[in-house]
This record gives sequence, structure tokens and C-alpha cells, in this order.
Amino acid sequence: SNVASRQVLVLPGDGIGPEIVAQAERVLARVNDKFALGINIEKGLVGGAAIDAHGSPLPEITLEKAKACDAVLLGAVGGPKWDSVDMSIRPEKGLLGLRSNLNLFGNLRPAILYPQLADASSLKPELVAGLDLLIVRELTGGIYFGQPRGIRELENGEREGFNTYKYSESEVRRIGRQAFEAAQKRGGKLCSVDKANVLEATVLWREVMDELAKDYPDVELTHMYVDNAAMQLVRAPKQFDVMVTGNMFGDILSDCAAMLTGSIGMLPSASLDENGKGMYEPIHGSAPDIAGQGIANPLATILSVAMMLRYSFDEADAAQAIEDAVGVTLDQGFRTADIQSEGMNLVSTEQMGDAVLAALA
Ligand code: NAI
Ligand code: MG
Repeated sequence: SNVASRQVLVLPGDGIGPEIVAQAERVLARVNDKFALGINIEKGLVGGAAIDAHGSPLPEITLEKAKACDAVLLGAVGGPKWDSVDMSIRPEKGLLGLRSNLNLFGNLRPAILYPQLADASSLKPELVAGLDLLIVRELTGGIYFGQPRGIRELENGEREGFNTYKYSESEVRRIGRQAFEAAQKRGGKLCSVDKANVLEATVLWREVMDELAKDYPDVELTHMYVDNAAMQLVRAPKQFDVMVTGNMFGDILSDCAAMLTGSIGMLPSASLDENGKGMYEPIHGSAPDIAGQGIANPLATILSVAMMLRYSFDEADAAQAIEDAVGVTLDQGFRTADIQSEGMNLVSTEQMGDAVLAALA
């Protein structure tokens, strides 16, 4: 690929968004130099910031830039300032608009617990120390989008709410390929989560995954029912490497997995299309309660940059360097307030950025 043409669109957004993105940009600039990645950065407005400037959470200019670039780095959107406005111009619409316009059907959410933070988890340290799993969630199909849907009146006058759970073979195949490829880049194990004992749609899901497995002989595929998967996630989460599942199951399981790590300020995410283009963002929101104080944890956003390098640019070494630098920073005892514990070195957002940069050097 033409390395010189790599384009990243940075969308800081609202609340703590600009504060944490500023640190992630410093890290990106540093690895860009160090590994000669040839990445150019452009800025744009999304969410409340875009409503204030253009009257829309996803202005045409931002959407054009997002379509033209290779990857998007996003902070977070939303906040009380825009809570009362019309639903159609809520900041969150900016995010949803980006996902649907860029066809980002694959949501990758790692749940990584750095051993230094093992006591932050809701589980016993020995169950989660070193936890590193990845949930691949289908994001644009399944029961959240299936038609028909609605609330209808029955002949007996009673109302009935209904939704449709369906996945076509091509929808399963494309999310399946992303998951198998992610497993190849990690530990080589993939667990497909379904409810094939009850739902026909997931019987087909399981069949397609089995077919795909023939193309990935280096990945070990297993299947698990979603209720068991929920149980296993809190019983013995370290058994998993990559999990792949549909939209609704993935929504629930990924939040559950995130909480095993106990620290919302540490978790990155990626949303990918078919060609490796992606949007990368921390899983947390704009944290209006701490915005403007310079105390937010920038590590989730910094780790989102690492995911960008790995999944959109195939730069595993540069990605690993960032992840290692975060590990070193934690080893050295640097902690923002959200992950602070006794005897550790409490630092600001910017000081945490400084520490990661120092560890990269
Ligand atoms: P939130 O994730 O913004 O905050 C929840 C709690 O975690 C708060 O106490 C916050 O201070 C803390 N927190 C979050 N990120 C942190 C960080 N990096 N460092 C330290 N502490 C951190 O969720 P909340 O409060 O439900 O939503 C606030 C706003 O964010 C709302 O407007 C919501 O719609 C929006 N939101 C945006 C998302 C996005 O842009 N992807 C996702 C979730 C919420
Ligand atoms: Mg959720």
C-alpha cells in the first residue's frame, strides 16, 4: 500500500474528549516518527462541538473527511449542554451516523486487565490477572435492525411488541472473517457465541462459522451458547481469546467483559468495515462530571491508537510498542484518579501522556 497516503481523521468531540485525544495524538505523532508510518492527521468536529459550530452532530464536511480517510480516532460525544435539544440533533446521532455511513459492521472490544490493576476488578485477582480477551460484536444487523418490528394491536385488543432476529449468510460471513482474522493476530482461539438450541437464525450462524473455519486452519473454533458464555465470563474469563457474536448478545457480553477489568478509563474499541477501514474510540463517554479538570484517564484513547495501527494499518510492532509503553507506565506507578490506589503516583491527564511518551522513548 502507498504508505505516504495514510490519512487519519481525529474527532475530539465533547467533554473530556479533547483532553484525552490530545494525549493520544502526542503518542500517535511519536510512533509515526519512530516507526516511519507516514500518517497524516486531519481534524474535524462531531457531536455537541459540531452542533455548536454547524447545527448538526455530523456535518457534511465531517462525513466527507471520514469517508476519505483510512481511519478515524474519536474521543467521546455528548453532555448535559445538548440533552434538551431535539432527538434528531443529539450528539449521539453523530456517532450512529458515522457507523452507518461508513458501514462499520464489526465492533472489536478488548477486555484487557493489566496485572498492575488486578485489584480494580469485580472478580478475585487470581481469576483476572493478565486477562486479555477480545469480543467481536456484529454491529449493524440482527435484532436491533431486523424488520418487521413495532408494537401492534392483536385481534383481542391486546397490544404486542415484536422484533425480528435475522442474519443473512453474507452478514455472518463478513463478521466471521473479521473474527477469524483477529484470532490469527492474537492467540489463535475463536469462540462463536449463539443460541443455536433455540434460535434458527443462530443455527445458520453456527453453520457459516463452521464453513469459514476451513479457510482458517490455524484458528481453533469452538461454539458456546450465550447463557453459558455469560456464566463462563464471570467464572473463568481467561479461557477466552476471541469471542464472536451477534449484535444483541455482543452488546451484553462486551459490557460484562469490560467490567471484569474494573476500569472504564482503560478500554479501547474499534469499529471496522470490510476493507480494514475503522473508527477507534475509548468505550467510555464524555464524562461531563470531570471534564475540563485535566484528570481524565487518557489510556483508553491511547490504546485505541494501538488498535488503529494494528487493524487499519497492519503495523503490529508500532501497536505493540504503545501497549508495552502503557504497561511500563503502570509498572512505574503512574495512576490517574480513576485507577488510583494506595501508594501510587497520582497524575493528571497530561502527566499520564508524558509518562507514556517517556516509556516509548
Ligand atoms: P461516561 O462513560 O462518560 O462516564 C461514566 C463515569 O466514568 C463517570 O463518573 C466518568 O467520570 C467516569 N469516566 C469515564 N471515562 C473516564 C476516563 N477516561 N477517566 C476517568 N474517568 C472516566 O458515561 P455517562 O456518564 O453515562 O455519559 C456521559 C455522557 O457521555 C452522556 O452524554 C452520554 O450520552 C455520553 N456517552 C458517549 C459515548 C461515546 O461517545 N461513545 C459512550 C457513552 C456515553
Ligand atoms: Mg451497551
